[in-house]
Amino acid sequence: MALKGKDLVTIDNLTIGEMDAVFNTADAMDNNLADQYGQCRGKVMASLFFEPSTRTRLSFETAMHRLGGRVISVSDPKSTSLAKGESIADMARIVSSYADIIVIRHPWEGAARLVADYADVPVINAGDGGHQHPTQTLCDLYTLRRERGDIHGLKIALWGDLKYGRTIHSLIFALAKFGANIIFCPSPGLEVPEHVLNKLVTEYGGDLERFKGAKRKVKNGAFPVDAAYITPGKPHQLAMMPDVDLDVEMKAGVDALYVTRPQKERFSEEEQEPSDVFPVVDKKLMRGREFRKALVMHPLPRVDELAYDLDADPRSMYFKQAAWGVPVRMALIALLLGMKEVLIAEKPSKQHVYPWYERDYGVACTNPRCVTKQESEKKYLKPGFKVVSRDPLTLRCVYCEHGTEPKFVASTEWHEGKLEFKFYHRADSHWRKQIRIENLIAFDSEKEAEKYGFKPTPARKPRTKKETNAAAD
Ligand code: CP
Repeated sequence: MALKGKDLVTIDNLTIGEMDAVFNTADAMDNNLADQYGQCRGKVMASLFFEPSTRTRLSFETAMHRLGGRVISVSDPKSTSLAKGESIADMARIVSSYADIIVIRHPWEGAARLVADYADVPVINAGDGGHQHPTQTLCDLYTLRRERGDIHGLKIALWGDLKYGRTIHSLIFALAKFGANIIFCPSPGLEVPEHVLNKLVTEYGGDLERFKGAKRKVKNGAFPVDAAYITPGKPHQLAMMPDVDLDVEMKAGVDALYVTRPQKERFSEEEQEPSDVFPVVDKKLMRGREFRKALVMHPLPRVDELAYDLDADPRSMYFKQAAWGVPVRMALIALLLGMKEVLIAEKPSKQHVYPWYERDYGVACTNPRCVTKQESEKKYLKPGFKVVSRDPLTLRCVYCEHGTEPKFVASTEWHEGKLEFKFYHRADSHWRKQIRIENLIAFDSEKEAEKYGFKPTPARKPRTKKETNAAAD
């Protein structure tokens, strides 16, 4: 098993064994940074940043320079032909004919996946809108591993903007993969999106305990928990307790408090309203018993949610997280380019494999920030979905991973060649249960079904008197 030629679009693309291989390689490189020069001699990395960045762009570029490779770079969204309306697919094809590896940050969710579909070289997602930021997650896990040894069984509290924080979304799945427990402490209104929680529970197992009733106000010094994820296969007090015992569990302490800033650039108009409820992590909060041994982590940049008075605290990890971005990204680049080979100890993956929704019509992604919804991409890009639930019928966009529940269904088996049977049915009717996944056609609306020549399910004829009497007999 090798990492050569792989893409890293979401954290799902790496197994535990592959992540361990990246971390072991990063350890070795970090021990002797100067000796790594020449490992990627002759290779070119394209660094395409269509959103602002300090850490990710500069650490990727530093990593490639330290490996002896060259970098071509875009750091101003207006400086490429995307600004003239060129599609991402065309850009990906062109850049992959210039470079050996592509690193891309883009505001549209699923943009990195689209680049990977069209590029012939490995593609690394450096953040796609509010979707994922898998290499930040590698830095976060690497920090936990260096500071705590083993990630399995740790209790990690996620704090702040859990709705739009892309580092949060990839970290949630990675922590679940490693068997850590997660405590969700969102700012009011910035809770983890349902599609992320849904994927967490359906794909990684474990228990999700919600504490909606608990009125935990930060101002009172209490911990604003709204849910906890308990890793499977590890009996834990949290999995059994009602709300009232949560305080007891919290007092036992968390291993790390992962803080995020409000991602204002992604807020809707209502969310732009000034809010005084975004909790601040400072020296006073960190005096609480529950944080006594907690590492303070933050992907940075920070705004007001993390006080400067914590910078000298030995528990503060955020500058280390950023600094270790260089060896971690050096390891990743060298492994994906195949310039370094390592033994990967593979553990069986427990992740679900869902069937694809085979058709490219009838249903559109509901997320307006998805790359499939953008004018420049709609011309050629067909939506893609996986069927993640049959009841209710739920499709997950393969680009941005938002879920959608189509309202109507039909079957290819029933209507092919026989126009008189070309009917559509409500997705919650008994008809849907009779349609095999490979025959499924889903529609967002009746209008969409009728656009493709389908007719509504014929109303059942009222029974004749004779039939009613026969049924009664
Ligand atoms: N953590 C992170 O992604 O930082 P930048 O936005 O500065 O790259």
